[in-house]
Amino acid sequence: MIKKGIILAGGIGTRMSPITKAVNKQLLPIYDKPLIFYPLSVLMLAGIKDILIIVNKGQLNQFRKILPNGKNLGIKISYAEQSYPRGLPDAFLVGKKFIGKENVALILGDNFFYGQSLTKRLQECVKLKSGASVLLHPVKNPSLYGIAKINKKNKILKIIEKPKKYFSNLAITGLYFFDNKVIEYSKNLKPSKRREVEIVDLLNKYRKRKKLSANFISRGGAWLDTGSMEDFYNTSAFVSALENRQGLKIACLEEIAFNNKWINKKNIMEAIKFYGKCNYSQYLSTLIKKDQK
Ligand code: DAU
Repeated sequence: MIKKGIILAGGIGTRMSPITKAVNKQLLPIYDKPLIFYPLSVLMLAGIKDILIIVNKGQLNQFRKILPNGKNLGIKISYAEQSYPRGLPDAFLVGKKFIGKENVALILGDNFFYGQSLTKRLQECVKLKSGASVLLHPVKNPSLYGIAKINKKNKILKIIEKPKKYFSNLAITGLYFFDNKVIEYSKNLKPSKRREVEIVDLLNKYRKRKKLSANFISRGGAWLDTGSMEDFYNTSAFVSALENRQGLKIACLEEIAFNNKWINKKNIMEAIKFYGKCNYSQYLSTLIKKDQK
């Protein structure tokens, strides 16, 4: 069972400059809450309570203001700094001490997941004992992502980062599950032409050993990568449309913690005080009212 998770929330956000010059991308809003709430909610839905957030050097205090130590959510949040964006597998070197001898999940700080059977799927993924597993999702423009080709038995045959030539439309989403070998494998990776260690090279190490498995987020689910300004707006519009239609919030951290029985009514009341008079607090108050009925 995977009990530890890392959120990689550094990066320089070049594609969204000048907005990201002073503020980390993961603290910018996706509709009514900071982007970081969404990947954090995914780990919480997977039942992961021990979480390391990796941020850029110098940005720790910004994050701590909104997500102090996790106690308010009944989880444990620790932080580590990445001195510069060395690539995604660097998360396992920065997080080596945090991971210890255990298996670990990694989610990219700018990834958004939503869908009916998502929680069930996540709970299956955290059962991983050895090897690695990824979640695949069809995309219209494969040249923007890590792409996987699979055979009829759903075995991954080939993976390439941002392929120039089409060979499959299945993107490797930014949520990965690894056994403890990930630390050793990450140590031995060489930087690519863009001077970063690449997640696909790490995944290939598992694939070559027949230790990489694939799960799917089918068309009923949504996976959005908020990499560009356009994606940011589209994801915000998606959240706004759903929340305003249903009256239910996506990625309300306290709601997930409350449903998981990690926190109680008193914690929700404290959260309302912390956020102040706002729409989010109003939503939180409905949670405890509902519970009283
Ligand atoms: O979103 C899924 C895609 O994410 C995968 O399909 C690709 O295989 C994977 O390489 C990655 O591609 P991106 O080009 O979207 O990665 P990006 O460089 O934008 O980084 C993703 C997030 O991780 C972003 O929030 C910044 C953060 N980051 C990135 C790097 C390279 C760090 O915190 N540190 C880093 O060193």
